[in-house]
Amino acid sequence: MFKKKLIAGLLGTAMVASMLTGCGGTSDTGSNDTAADTEATTAAATEAADDTADDAADDTADDAADDTADAGGKKVGIAMPTKSLERWNRDGSYLEEQFSSKGYEVSLTYSDNKIDQQVKDIESLIADDVDLLVIAAIDGESLTQVLADAKEEGIPVISYDRLIMNTDAVSYYVSFDNYTVGKLQGEFVRDQLDLDNADGPFNIEFTAGDPADNNAGFFFNGAYDALKSYIDEGKLVVPSGQTEFDQVATKSWDTATAMTRFQNILGSNYSDGTQLDVALCSNDSTALGVTQAIESDYAGSNSVIITGQDGDEANLANIVDGKQTMTVYKAVANEAVATLDLGIALLKGETPDASLIDNSGWSFDCTYDTSSYDNGTGIIPSYLLVPTVVTKDNIQSELVDTGYYTMDDDGYPHPTN
Ligand code: BGC
Repeated sequence: MFKKKLIAGLLGTAMVASMLTGCGGTSDTGSNDTAADTEATTAAATEAADDTADDAADDTADDAADDTADAGGKKVGIAMPTKSLERWNRDGSYLEEQFSSKGYEVSLTYSDNKIDQQVKDIESLIADDVDLLVIAAIDGESLTQVLADAKEEGIPVISYDRLIMNTDAVSYYVSFDNYTVGKLQGEFVRDQLDLDNADGPFNIEFTAGDPADNNAGFFFNGAYDALKSYIDEGKLVVPSGQTEFDQVATKSWDTATAMTRFQNILGSNYSDGTQLDVALCSNDSTALGVTQAIESDYAGSNSVIITGQDGDEANLANIVDGKQTMTVYKAVANEAVATLDLGIALLKGETPDASLIDNSGWSFDCTYDTSSYDNGTGIIPSYLLVPTVVTKDNIQSELVDTGYYTMDDDGYPHPTN
């Protein structure tokens, strides 16, 4: 494992400048010259951002020509799962913006969460002679055949955010530390309830993600492992008895599915006045459904701790309104930057390793991991970014001051792109 921290907390225009010039191991790392740290004051950070934007502007003209020459008319095929889950819209547009800014021709597909459609979309990208594939799979198990075709054509494949299983065609994996996402949710609950000191017992219910998504098990296990000892000692109780991943999973991460399941749980286990203390939800689309179920079907008057992941707009509004307690934010803008630099290296025929991080000048933490992600054909070398807990108290500093979101006049954040 190799870890490098460069500069955390580039703000506002600095981030935009960084995205425009890229963060690759090329000479255009002017965007990262500034030694701002996460605790930087807004004033200092704004100044840093301005300086950085100037540096970046100077560099951009020179570098644009080099970048375009490197791109050499190459094509990048990006296959995203669906527009119906908010984050993939952001991922798609960040990725498109990144690769286009370096002169690559980009084809971006969305497959409406339909597995067959995604296979067809990837077939078309291959037929269209793309030089690189970046894929966030709908079903990690369903791309073996189409990716065998990609391999035969010599097209490198980056498994984006979700690990693609059972194929040796995947060259690399770029994601966040998925187990840590769940662990942060579990630890948040532990701290909120002060489980090491409080007597309890407290009641908790789990809602996890899509079994077809390899990430979903990591999120659930991370959260469950953080809470298991309290469940084992009876300080945390799961009245529904649903503690296995398969029992709590949500097909397609669908909001309505999560809502219906939770209404049933409330009807069967809480209608007698039993208090629900925690709804541990793996992500925001499921948290949204669970929150709706609690609003419509929960008789208790306590405020239930509800976790999430992604920073979806509706969930951030719920956090502001006190209806959801936290979300684990993953800066997908940075995930796109890491994917760009990895993609460039692959297109140059290189075999990237930890030194990609070392040479990148990235303004965010990233770990090169060669032990955690086995896709059934062996370990897939992974670049893992670091997730952050967001609550009502740090929305401004983590999401708005960093430039990812803007705050409207009513105090609700909206994604910047
Ligand atoms: C992503 C999450 C997202 C979920 C549903 C997962 O693969 O890692 O960020 O919430 O898919 O879109």
